[in-house]
Amino acid sequence: MDERLELIEQKDDRYVMKTYKRLPVAFVKGEGVRLWDTDGREYLDLVSGLGVAILGHCHPRVTGAINRQAGELLHTTNLYYIEPQAELAELLVENSFKGKCFFANSGAEANEGAIKIARKHHRLLGDPRTKVVCVEGSFHGRTLAAMSATGQPSRWGPFEPVVPGFVHVPLNDTGALEKEIDEDTAAVMLEPIQGESGIRPAGDDFMKAARDACDATGALLIVDEVQSGLGRTGDMFAYEHSGVRPDIMTLAKGLANGIPAACFIAAGSFGDVFAPGDHGSTFGGGFLACAASVETIKVLLEEDLKASAERVGKVLFERLEAMVDRVPAVKEVRGRGLMLAIQLDGDKAREAVLGCLERGVLANDVTPSAVRILPPLIIDEEEALGGLEVLEGVLSGL
Ligand SMILES: Cc1ncc(COP(=O)(O)O)c(C=O)c1O
Repeated sequence: MDERLELIEQKDDRYVMKTYKRLPVAFVKGEGVRLWDTDGREYLDLVSGLGVAILGHCHPRVTGAINRQAGELLHTTNLYYIEPQAELAELLVENSFKGKCFFANSGAEANEGAIKIARKHHRLLGDPRTKVVCVEGSFHGRTLAAMSATGQPSRWGPFEPVVPGFVHVPLNDTGALEKEIDEDTAAVMLEPIQGESGIRPAGDDFMKAARDACDATGALLIVDEVQSGLGRTGDMFAYEHSGVRPDIMTLAKGLANGIPAACFIAAGSFGDVFAPGDHGSTFGGGFLACAASVETIKVLLEEDLKASAERVGKVLFERLEAMVDRVPAVKEVRGRGLMLAIQLDGDKAREAVLGCLERGVLANDVTPSAVRILPPLIIDEEEALGGLEVLEGVLSGL
């Protein structure tokens, strides 16, 4: 271990809470799909900071926007108009659906806000509803309500009681979903493709059943696109694959390519539910995050990176599927575009990730038995296939 890493580890061990199972590496520089560690060693990044660096690391246009904004103005408050916030809202709405945005700082916060709109909407109708139907295995964040929406009871354990009102149905069990959505349901919240449970797509039938049941009962459909949104799955937003329109969509991760930024967009009149004082954020929608987001979205659109994610993702999927026959440890491949997971035949994902790390490739052990691939959307076929070759070598040796 080099001296610089050793020092970082010592300080981290002493002063930082142990909430992450860190890998034995610290990166100090990034460019495109490459990262460099404290020892100057180069890595191919198939993780993109868990789906954040969609344009790759230190994209020159985003860096330029950040530098420009940092030299002009960093913070006022949402009590005044904020030019890059208004510009970002226009960009997002014009490229999704007619509605209005609220800007936050993290995915969990965006989901909290979306739930608040749903509850207030029903209050305004004189029909207070609190129930939110969610999906088993889902992940919506770590704050108390987002944690309660998260369909993984292991994450609630020491923090119970959970916030009341959240119920969970099995993913893709359309019958259970239809049964649970009733006249007391304020909202249904789901990920079009579950990320943290190991890349598990919601079927089109499941998405359509959610939409239909929401229409029949007046519940709002909230799609959590924190991980799947912004081109990652081959469309601008993953809900588009099913043809189902949400009432509220939440975004975060890739929005500002690495600066904390999040947003929820509420369609039509749902965008007018909040009145002054109902919701707010000191930092949400700030100059730096919005300037970085505007540039990120412009590059994403101008370079049509969703098409690239679809094209490269298809090649990767085929290559990974071929491993199911060739590599005994590989059981199944899931996902779409550049949001993929390889299911292994046992709890070997950490070992696989460590093996890749040793060989200069970053992958993620999303569950003990699944390896996740979430590369920057700018990755080309050759680079991506090079990474898979390394991964296949490692998996073959498990
Ligand atoms: C689908 C989804 N929703 C919400 C979150 C929470 O986002 P954050 O960590 O920014 O609060 C995540 C994070 O992984 C996520 O994948």
